[in-house]
Amino acid sequence: MRLAIKAAAGALAMCLGGPVVASTEPALTFEQGQALAKKMACLGCHQVKAKRVGPGFTQVAQRYAGQPEAFEYLSQMIRQGGRGKWGAIPMPAQTQVSEQQAKALTHWILALEP
Ligand code: HEC
Repeated sequence: MRLAIKAAAGALAMCLGGPVVASTEPALTFEQGQALAKKMACLGCHQVKAKRVGPGFTQVAQRYAGQPEAFEYLSQMIRQGGRGKWGAIPMPAQTQVSEQQAKALTHWILALEP
């Protein structure tokens, strides 16, 4: 799957919409984000496009498109876990993920294109 990096950067700027993340924080390329998601064991339950145990990350991006508050919500949700948004199976807290990493992953997820 290919990702138009330019378009992603645009979507990124839109979804951040404010000083949520220091502007010095570099955005991850598609490959970097995927590597981080793999390292953090997200890909055991998620795929980029299709549902596995949890929703596909592009589905997440679609669901929260145009919602500026989603960035803050999802970057906290990743570390605390969540339930009841996508189905019966809850997502356990991902305590191995730092705050910075959670933000970087959220960034990456929200910039994915369907
Ligand atoms: C043990 C399986 C599992 C792992 C590991 C896991 N997830 Fe999930 N994830 C889920 C499930 C199940 C849901 C759906 C929860 C729900 O219905 O609210 C979910 C939902 C999500 C959502 C959408 C949340 C919402 O409220 O809409 C995001 C974003 C997400 N996961 C990101 C991640 C990231 C990033 C990682 C790695 C750090 C990760 N997940 C690791 C199972 C997992």
